[in-house]
Amino acid sequence: MVGLGFIPMNFFKLAFLACFIFSCLSLGTPSQACDPNDLLALKEFAGNLTNGSIIATWSNDSICCEWEGIKCDHGGNGSSTTRVSILNLSGKGLRGSISRSLGSLDELKLLDLSCNPSGW
Ligand SMILES: *[C@@H]1O[C@H](CO)[C@@H](O)[C@H](O)[C@H]1NC(C)=O
Ligand SMILES: *[C@@H]1O[C@H](CO)[C@@H](O)[C@H](O)[C@H]1NC(C)=O
Ligand SMILES: *[C@@H]1O[C@H](CO)[C@@H](O)[C@H](O)[C@H]1NC(C)=O
Ligand SMILES: *[C@@H]1O[C@H](CO)[C@@H](O)[C@H](O)[C@H]1NC(C)=O
Ligand SMILES: *[C@@H]1O[C@H](CO)[C@@H](O)[C@H](O)[C@H]1NC(C)=O
Repeated sequence: MVGLGFIPMNFFKLAFLACFIFSCLSLGTPSQACDPNDLLALKEFAGNLTNGSIIATWSNDSICCEWEGIKCDHGGNGSSTTRVSILNLSGKGLRGSISRSLGSLDELKLLDLSCNPSGW
């Protein structure tokens, strides 16, 4: 009898928590995907890096706006895709060549590749 009072309480708590988590997920997801062309450019760039601490964190394509060193902005003109606007890989210990593909990040506003080992 005493316990009965607690079961619905816990159920409500769980249900509330589940709703909360779901609303967080559905709010958070759309801003994480970057423009497919930007993704290609970043992947080509990463393919030309021979070493560096970012490579491991650049593995999940579906959240490329959250990759280390990357920040995205909504493209101009009310576009729904998010474009890569900042690429800051300063001091990440990168080596390799800088791919021409970076040129196709046409919404890029800031590129910081300073403080990486020579060989760039
Ligand atoms: C490295 O860059 C060159 C020229 O930009 C490109 O043709 C090549 O596919 C890149 N390599 C990789 C592994 O992506
Ligand atoms: C490549 O990275 C690894 C781990 O980050 C490091 O131990 C190694 O010294 C690096 N190699 C070069 C040539 O920088
Ligand atoms: C990539 O990230 C998404 C969103 O966070 C996640 O749902 C998915 O499981 C991840 N994929 C991998 C292979 O980690
Ligand atoms: C914005 O959209 C208009 C109409 O679709 C187009 O004419 C214009 O070129 C676009 N501007 C940019 C910067 O993409
Ligand atoms: C890039 O990141 C480094 C280290 O996090 C920071 O010191 C530097 O100011 C950043 N560069 C720009 C232009 O924001």
